[in-house]
Amino acid sequence: MLKVTETEQVEFPAAMISEFETIVQRYPEGKQKSALLPLLHLVQAEYGWLSTASMDRVAGYLDIHPIEVYEVASFYTMFFLKPQGKFVLEVCRTGPCCLVGAEKIMKHIEVTLGVKEGEVSEDGMFSWRGVECLAACGMAPVLQIGPDYTFYENLTEESVNQLIKDLKNKI
Ligand code: FES
Repeated sequence: MLKVTETEQVEFPAAMISEFETIVQRYPEGKQKSALLPLLHLVQAEYGWLSTASMDRVAGYLDIHPIEVYEVASFYTMFFLKPQGKFVLEVCRTGPCCLVGAEKIMKHIEVTLGVKEGEVSEDGMFSWRGVECLAACGMAPVLQIGPDYTFYENLTEESVNQLIKDLKNKI
């Protein structure tokens, strides 16, 4: 994953631009704005979040106003508007998951990682947050981990410990 700061100008890699072109071609002439969501997903996959500079680049590429990109990026919660850890643990905090311990799991993650919701661990490896229903209520409590959104179900404090240990071993 490439690193980028809020103010840093970004030059998108040639491979990403090539993917942009492929995506934009799916839409009718003059409707290139329709490619905005998939393009933002590509940018976030590359950098881990959407900086203002990178959103401005996308706006330039699609020939639309930057505000049009900001509006979309700030509407959808799957887009991060500030830097995240390499692994983002997203814990479902909706009713059915809460009934079987989601809040306890979130507290456990906070204590284990030593980082508050929405912040990044000192080593830059982890961040976490509560999210709304992940559509796996039957296996509650549940979390998903970005950037590839792998699901982990029927969570316990022990399984979360193992999960964090496994992620640290991947580093
Ligand atoms: S309530 Fe947690 S997955 Fe639906």
